[in-house]
Amino acid sequence: MSSKLNKFYITTPIYYVNDVPHIGHAYTTIMADILARYHRMRGDDVFFLTGTDEHGAKIKQIADKVGKKPKEFVDEISAAFSTAWDTLNISNDNFIRTTNPAHKKAVQEVAQKLFDNGFIYKGKYEALYCLGCEQYKTKTDLVDGKCPDHKSEPEVRSEESYLFKMSKFQDELLQRIKKDEFKIRPETRKNEIISFYEKEGLKDVAISRRKESVPWGIELPFDKDHTLYVWIDAFLNYLTGLGWPKNDKNYKKFWPADVQLMSKDILRVHATIWPAMLLALGEQLPKQFFIHGYFTIDGQKMSKSLGNVVDPVALAGKYGVDEVRYFLSREVSFGEDGDFSFARLEERYNAELANGLGNLVSRVLAMCEKYFDGKIPEKTSGSAARTWQSYEINMEKLALHLALKDVWDLIAFCDQFINTEAPWQLVKVDKERLSRVIYTLLETLRHIAWLIAPFMPMTSDKLFEQLGLAPEKEKKKSFEKAKEWGGLAPGKKIKRGVVLFPKIISK
Ligand code: MSP
Repeated sequence: MSSKLNKFYITTPIYYVNDVPHIGHAYTTIMADILARYHRMRGDDVFFLTGTDEHGAKIKQIADKVGKKPKEFVDEISAAFSTAWDTLNISNDNFIRTTNPAHKKAVQEVAQKLFDNGFIYKGKYEALYCLGCEQYKTKTDLVDGKCPDHKSEPEVRSEESYLFKMSKFQDELLQRIKKDEFKIRPETRKNEIISFYEKEGLKDVAISRRKESVPWGIELPFDKDHTLYVWIDAFLNYLTGLGWPKNDKNYKKFWPADVQLMSKDILRVHATIWPAMLLALGEQLPKQFFIHGYFTIDGQKMSKSLGNVVDPVALAGKYGVDEVRYFLSREVSFGEDGDFSFARLEERYNAELANGLGNLVSRVLAMCEKYFDGKIPEKTSGSAARTWQSYEINMEKLALHLALKDVWDLIAFCDQFINTEAPWQLVKVDKERLSRVIYTLLETLRHIAWLIAPFMPMTSDKLFEQLGLAPEKEKKKSFEKAKEWGGLAPGKKIKRGVVLFPKIISK
């Protein structure tokens, strides 16, 4: 696999600020962070964007309900998102807010440009609209006349409105999606979208509301009585988050996005209006959408009324940040639906972190202390190339759970190796072989510290330190160098530290 310097631009959806972040938001953001860190580790030039979506009828309603001014309300919740991401060690390069003046200005310029170029016209729009989703619905989306996600009947909306000529882009977008020029993954999601294009087709879409209906939005520059549909405003974050159009340095370097992550709830709107807008603006389409599944909690839909909403910050407080990052990325096949449960988390923690990685590290370091006075023994030949190869392939295809499995297979191999080599016997009969065994194990731990770095950055640092290496210095090494065998220098002292993952004893 080539390690040529590439650029990598990854985005998450920008989250609604109607409520504080939950585990679903954290999941998307952590997965994006893992990919961003992986690409940085390869030496790629990375831009990772996340943020908050702060306009729209729903947000105004909630702010009214809690007796706050919309801006005051969105400031608070947006801060809760950015604090949560700090806690979870998210390495985003920017945090975009749609209430930023620069974003608003850019959005208005886009609206004006689309209007001037004839892509926006005045008309009337009548359609079913689900306020919960902030999305228009077709009859086929409904179950018993109700939105399946919000269990409520959508409203019929009919009013003077500006429309975006989305229908014009039907053929071109369908072709591009089919040919994977605009890739939608997993394949099942691509097929769903193709079938939507073929059966329903792209229709012109209302992109404004009268200001008295939705005052909390961006005004149309050519008609101050209207505010812009929140999704049009929101999509543009993927460009304005790069500083576009005023500071176009990052835009020039990073657009089009390499991976746009989201879940299935917002795929359709993303795979229709967003690329159509880009074509209308003469911009390139994103290279890939990756759609992950939805989390349930103990088998049930997460909802406030069920009282089962999981707070990712509290979760990390209880189990640790890396522990949560590990669990979320390992438990669910990335791209499929998954379930979260505390029992599973504790099970995996004990089996894979405490008894798996943690135990291996303490065993190997204890043997190095006991048999070699805590000094790295003589170098011996070896390789971790097979693990790296499979890991890289899995990371490239975004099979994050499988990349982790590669690492844990290596851990299992080390455990096996210790058992078959039995260093406690070798010390009596074959010191040279013992030295080779311990070097192999220590050097494999160095590789493991690299392999887990995107997933568990703090544990990776701790492991480097325990191996007697300075994490900051290590991370400056090139990816090719890191993957080479023999990075540990004989004679250097290890620094055995605290147990990485103390076992959870269930009450
Ligand atoms: N504001 C829009 C997105 C605009 S992007 C231009 C929005 N916001 S949201 O807060 O509802 O976030 C939806 C996204 O949050 C999902 O696509 C997914 O990434 C994440 N998730 C929310 N709940 C989730 C689960 N229960 N499970 C997995 N991901 C979840 O839509």
